[in-house]
Amino acid sequence: MTMTQDELKQAVAQAAIKYVVENEIVGVGTGSTANFFIDELAKIKHKIKGAVASSDATAARLRGHGIEVFDLNQVTSMPVYIDGADEITAQGAMIKGGGAALTREKIVASVAKQFICIADGSKLVDVLGKFPLPVEVIPMAQVVVARQLKAIGGDARLRLKDGVPVLTDNGNMIIDVHGLDITDPSLLEADINNIVGVVTVGLFARHGANVCLLGTAEGVKTLVF
Ligand code: 5RP
Repeated sequence: MTMTQDELKQAVAQAAIKYVVENEIVGVGTGSTANFFIDELAKIKHKIKGAVASSDATAARLRGHGIEVFDLNQVTSMPVYIDGADEITAQGAMIKGGGAALTREKIVASVAKQFICIADGSKLVDVLGKFPLPVEVIPMAQVVVARQLKAIGGDARLRLKDGVPVLTDNGNMIIDVHGLDITDPSLLEADINNIVGVVTVGLFARHGANVCLLGTAEGVKTLVF
């Protein structure tokens, strides 16, 4: 029986529960796969201390389940951060930010000892870049940053919804860079981070995933990096 993409997402969300450490705080990502995970986490909420959220939407969903949401400034460490990805390689490098939450995702992930990526099998790629690379920018710099992103070979487009720029939870804009063939994700991550006006690039290569739970027709595969 073939599974739908949502069923694959649910399967990896369930599999991620065994990575949650009892009596600790868990870092929680953003997106449809992360939402399945939050719903699973609710079933064991009495076993955890609480969560740190990577977006306002995730915080609202966690609170809706009665899970305590901690401000990151109150937290010194956490064992795991669990989140989806838009693309992931067999080396654990990822593109993230399809949901515009890349900056807070990267911040929360940086505090966690392990990044557990939960993804349906369609997200596994040989080379990153078919999914447009999200870059969060300071609004006044969006044109100048777009120009520099074009210079590195990408087709940089401001993310719009209903004709107006999408704003992140931080009040910034997103440029999606189309047409990149990212053969050296760590290098490109550093190069784009160095452009003045860039807040965060949605490449998670320097600190990529430690584990990926990948939903496939044959079951959940565990990739360890
Ligand atoms: C949000 C993200 C998400 O993890 C990514 O977009 C994957 O989302 P989904 O689980 O809905 O496929 O980076 O900023």
